[in-house]
Amino acid sequence: MEMFNPDTEKTEQQTSSKAMTPTAQSTGLNALSYVQTKVVPLRPDHLERNRIVAYNKNSSMSGAFDLLRTQVLKTMEENGWRTLAITSPTPEAGKTVLAINLAMSIAHHTTKTALLVDFDLRRPKVGEYLGLPMDKSLNELLADEAELQEVLVNPTLPRFVVLPTREPIPLSTEVLSSPAVSHLIADLRERYNSRIVIFDLPPLLSSDDVINVLPRFDCVLLVVANGLNSRKEIEESLHHLGTANLIGTVLNKAEPENRSYY
Ligand SMILES: Nc1ncnc2c1ncn2[C@@H]1O[C@H](COP(=O)(O)OP(=O)(O)O)[C@@H](O)[C@H]1O
Ligand SMILES: [Mg+2]
Repeated sequence: MEMFNPDTEKTEQQTSSKAMTPTAQSTGLNALSYVQTKVVPLRPDHLERNRIVAYNKNSSMSGAFDLLRTQVLKTMEENGWRTLAITSPTPEAGKTVLAINLAMSIAHHTTKTALLVDFDLRRPKVGEYLGLPMDKSLNELLADEAELQEVLVNPTLPRFVVLPTREPIPLSTEVLSSPAVSHLIADLRERYNSRIVIFDLPPLLSSDDVINVLPRFDCVLLVVANGLNSRKEIEESLHHLGTANLIGTVLNKAEPENRSYY
């Protein structure tokens, strides 16, 4: 069993035990060193059905993410950015699939931990696509029924950590612009500087969900699906992004062969 770099990700060490030790809960700052992230297995057939190809480091298809990963990380590093929001003009652009593959690709090919957070509170899909058990999730975290350590999951890939959302969260616009969510974003960002946090956001034009929370992220990646969005929708999306740091736009589903990203 592989371990995370103990110098940088002390709270996210992989162990097979789910329980936090009593000492971990009761000794303040040092306690974080002993917190254990739940490790859950991934099923390749389930992943492939959901177009998650980057779990296999050597898969020819995971190569499609190399360029995207390299460019995104380069810009993020140059600017000291650690949080990346992924959005699109409208639903079904492939945000969630892209977010998962990009996070896995970062975990595989860099020394950074990739933490993927499901913030599409209306249509959460990260846990479902990955086939994660979600007895505790963002739902419980935001309801004050769980601690952060309890809701983070490590789906066997080293340095890949997920904060899934099990079911839609009502009043999603209000929740996303709440102080609790602002604190969560800041906390996830500040805890380790060797961590890239990717937020799978709702679409821009379907609701006000994204607008208020957008300034909390260091940068944004816009996913546009080929043929799905009009020029007007794309222009409107760019307008919505306003002063946010747009790191790039991905034209998704670009080729008839479904799995291509360019
Ligand atoms: N590159 C792609 N080519 C073809 N289909 C894709 C691609 N990316 C995603 N899909 C499919 O499109 C649908 C929507 O993808 P999803 O990631 O859930 O979109 P979003 O999160 O933007 O709503 C899913 O059925 C997914 O498998
Ligand atoms: Mg989605």
